[in-house]
Amino acid sequence: MEAQHKPGFGIVGLGIGRAHMDAVAASKISTLVAVCDIIPEKLHKAKKKYPFVHTYESFDEMLADPGVDIVSICLPSGMHADFAVRAMAAGKHVLIEKPIDITEMSARRVIEARDKYGVRVGVVHQNRYNACMAPIKKAIDSGRLGRLILGNFAVKWFREQSYYDNGWHGTWDMDGGGSLMNQAIHTIDLMRWLMGEVASVRSVMGIYAHDIETEDMTASVITFKNGAAATFVSTTCAYPGISTDIQIYGTGGTIEADADVLRTWKLRDSADEEAEEEEMLRLYGAGNGGACSADPTLLVGHQAVIEDMADAVINGREPQVPPEEAIKSVRIIEAIYKSARTGEVVFLD
Ligand SMILES: NC(=O)c1ccc[n+]([C@@H]2O[C@H](COP(=O)([O-])OP(=O)(O)OC[C@H]3O[C@@H](n4cnc5c(N)ncnc54)[C@H](O)[C@@H]3O)[C@@H](O)[C@H]2O)c1
Repeated sequence: MEAQHKPGFGIVGLGIGRAHMDAVAASKISTLVAVCDIIPEKLHKAKKKYPFVHTYESFDEMLADPGVDIVSICLPSGMHADFAVRAMAAGKHVLIEKPIDITEMSARRVIEARDKYGVRVGVVHQNRYNACMAPIKKAIDSGRLGRLILGNFAVKWFREQSYYDNGWHGTWDMDGGGSLMNQAIHTIDLMRWLMGEVASVRSVMGIYAHDIETEDMTASVITFKNGAAATFVSTTCAYPGISTDIQIYGTGGTIEADADVLRTWKLRDSADEEAEEEEMLRLYGAGNGGACSADPTLLVGHQAVIEDMADAVINGREPQVPPEEAIKSVRIIEAIYKSARTGEVVFLD
């Protein structure tokens, strides 16, 4: 029997791209083929760690490498669509770091190119693989949480000024925003994935503790098409970095988590509410680490995203987060910024 072809990855941008590099190297179903960066020092370090990897200072030269089947785009956010389209035009599948791009308009170019060139495109929203997310999603989708009433999402993180002093973070043209577009987009993705399509947003934003162009705090009231509502706050001013609250209340009960750590699991339809919560907290109350050791087959984070992308290419299926999903987070964020600027409620169609 012929051995299964393991798709080869070429990674452009060696910041978070190094996590892609390590995940591909650890994967049994894909191969690390090439890396690209304009900083030679980063290429040298990659070569030292993985002596077999091809290194390129030119993106076009990496695209000409016949061993590269999938290009991971790990560049500053405002460059994503341009580079993704170039990769697709060269016949490559593409995995794009979040956000898909910083505007809905440029994200649409990714979808058009994918359809034109007939390749696979996935976007990195790895928090969906946090261990507690699958049971939360299941409890909502199966109706156990009943009718959704309220969500409370709060991304209370911290970044030093030095984080913003390095060039593109906190700029409109490359980061597309601040605490919301860069950090809280993960939780925007989770909120919409769990609670449903957004109907409207009413928001404020400001710059409080950093010298930046965009924002370091947003606060929004969100309504959903299913009638539920939520509050959503994001900040990079919450010293020293506090929590990521994901709290959902329905007629059937309450589920609360802090990022990947399940905190509360109270479902009214449970045969034994206390015993069920105890068991859920035993499995998921320690975050990804605890749950992973309880179930070593459970993959988390970037590793899971890389495996999903490689498998999608091997089996000719859509990746878990296709551009149509990722674009929705960008639309919500654009609506929040528009509402904060105009002081008006912004409706999404
Ligand atoms: N999923 C996550 O948790 C996560 C975490 C961090 C960053 N990100 C996303 O990843 C992207 C990159 O962020 P980062 O923190 O790694 O940024 P970074 O600035 O640390 O790294 C970007 C790299 O791209 C390189 N680069 C720039 N222009 C290039 C070009 N023309 N050709 C080749 N290389 C070029 C830079 O030299 C740099 O090494 C952003 O979109 C960010 O939102 C996602």
